[in-house]
Amino acid sequence: MLVSITAALRRTRPLAWRCLSTTGLARAAQGHDVTEPSFVDFTKPMYCERREMPLPDAPFVSQLTPEQKALKEKETRSWKELTKEEKVALYRISFNRSYEEMNKKSQEWKTIVGGVFYFLGLGGLLLWWHRVYVYGPVPHTLSEEWVAMQTKRMIDMRVNPVTGFSSHWDYQKNEWKK
Ligand SMILES: *[C@@H]1O[C@H](CO)[C@@H](O)[C@H](O)[C@H]1NC(C)=O
Repeated sequence: MLVSITAALRRTRPLAWRCLSTTGLARAAQGHDVTEPSFVDFTKPMYCERREMPLPDAPFVSQLTPEQKALKEKETRSWKELTKEEKVALYRISFNRSYEEMNKKSQEWKTIVGGVFYFLGLGGLLLWWHRVYVYGPVPHTLSEEWVAMQTKRMIDMRVNPVTGFSSHWDYQKNEWKK
């Protein structure tokens, strides 16, 4: 039970926290592995993808493929020889996402608005169903005559005469106080 809760927490932890502490980015720092490593070496610099940190301590991809190694080699020479694609590939070695990609607005609000209306509608249906099939007829004690009789009786009994109900009734003039 506890294990599954902590696992769920780990999954839902916000990016900022992951950046500071746990395995996601450490994994990225240590070679961008898909498979989960058995341990994370926190003594090594880590890649951190946050807008406040334009220059993470480590590149995004640390275990380069042969092509990437060749590209890195080419990077040491004149950059005029690099094509646009190679420049982008070099960028992607150092960074996972560009600022533009990080700043892109999420469309999640649509899901949230949809969800809100869905549950409002569901609630409305439930309310309607209750009104039609669950509630009985309105009790006779709520009829106008009954309430009038009940009010008269309460006034006659002088219910709460100091600050309550019949304190609002003027017994001399036989009407509600103004
Ligand atoms: C890299 O970017 C993708 C989206 O393009 C994102 O899902 C993923 O979490 C990012 N990885 C890291 C380690 O920040």
